Amino acid sequence: MKIHSKSTVKRNPRKRAGKYAITIATSALVLSACGSSSTSSSSASTSASGTSGGITTINWWASPLGGAGDRQKLITAFEAANPNIKIKLISAPTNTDTNRAQLITQISGGATTPDVFMGDVIWPAQFGAHGLALPLSKYLPASYFAKFAPGLVSGASYKGQVYGSPLFSDQGFLYYRKDLLAKANLPVPTTWPQLESEAVTLVKDGLVQNGFVWEGNSYEGLTCNFMEYLASAGGTVVNSGYSASTINSAAGLKALTFMRSLITSGASPASVTTMQEPQAESTFVAGNSAFLRNWTYAWADSQNPATSKVVGKVGVAPLPTFPGQSGPGYSNIGGWNLYVNPHTKHLQADLTFLKWMSGTAAQTTLGNLSFIPTVESVRQAFASSTTAPPPLQIAAKTKLVPRPSGTPNYAAVSQAIYANVNAALSGSTSVASALSTASSQMNSALGGGL
Ligand code: GLC
Repeated sequence: MKIHSKSTVKRNPRKRAGKYAITIATSALVLSACGSSSTSSSSASTSASGTSGGITTINWWASPLGGAGDRQKLITAFEAANPNIKIKLISAPTNTDTNRAQLITQISGGATTPDVFMGDVIWPAQFGAHGLALPLSKYLPASYFAKFAPGLVSGASYKGQVYGSPLFSDQGFLYYRKDLLAKANLPVPTTWPQLESEAVTLVKDGLVQNGFVWEGNSYEGLTCNFMEYLASAGGTVVNSGYSASTINSAAGLKALTFMRSLITSGASPASVTTMQEPQAESTFVAGNSAFLRNWTYAWADSQNPATSKVVGKVGVAPLPTFPGQSGPGYSNIGGWNLYVNPHTKHLQADLTFLKWMSGTAAQTTLGNLSFIPTVESVRQAFASSTTAPPPLQIAAKTKLVPRPSGTPNYAAVSQAIYANVNAALSGSTSVASALSTASSQMNSALGGGL
């Protein structure tokens, strides 16, 4: 369904989302617009947030969602529904690690802005433990949190308080070139070795420059990729009490040996060790790779004629697994929440914004942009619609593996994983010693438990 013509939310024509779009009735927009507005009077001298003429302006820190203008589309619809509140967008870095570091510097320094920030799903323990985000469950009723898909609220919680209002979910998917597989008469791979051999074949036959691109740079995204291979190999990274690393195992060895072999076999270019999401995605949408591992939104980007050379040629499937394992492979759980700065001067306006962003209108807009909605009813509507973006239709069919983000020291735990995995990928250290170093660095970061 398309966004209703009378709606204040318009779909982005650049995304050609119409073919896959789900619409909402105008009434849903009106219903979701019932939030109260803030009349807070103080303002941060260092920012443009504040109240003037009965209008409260709040700063929203958010990294780019997808195509240009996607964040503004949400803001415009929110402001139309809430005329007493203006949103000033602060564009945040796309790299989640850089994004977090900048926010921590600002908020721990007492900055009153940004008022609301879009933050990763792996941050609640760290931000909650260090007073970097407001405990939302003290200000919003249980009924507010009941509408989200199962697991999201507990993932956004730390020590009994909810810190994040789920905005959208991410899962890893396998994107593939339908045209190339058809030309070479190859099936969509369901196991990792099958993917590797098909990638090698397609490159050797001269059908494409690169076989398989993914996020192998030394940063958070590599932890996500590693978790997917590791879970398929039957491994874990920490024990259930978060007191010890379990990465240095037979499964760890199997997973990392395979990841390194993707490069040495020629299935993946050596440059994957420098790729984050944008580089992997742009290689694929430029037509220079047969396979891509990326998040849900890569679908919309691959079908955007303004930037993609592979419109109409892309298929999406759950990630593969290792032979002998049943079902599809594992997708890492990603996604982004909305958090409130504990020093904000505009709490009521902030909460109104959070409520609207978890309403049907905003969640439907996000779904049409190929983000997995966090509100269960909207997520289900997309999952059961044959015209929804394909990743949203198959999301529920994949197996999920979370990162060990329950510890406030997750950033150091993850760094121990991605830095050593990256060293093994680039061949600067052996797989065995990378796992052993990762394990001891993780144990120091865990420091004996939660
Ligand atoms: C995506 C995910 C996020 C993850 C990041 C890693 O943005 O949503 O959870 O940490 O990728 O690069």
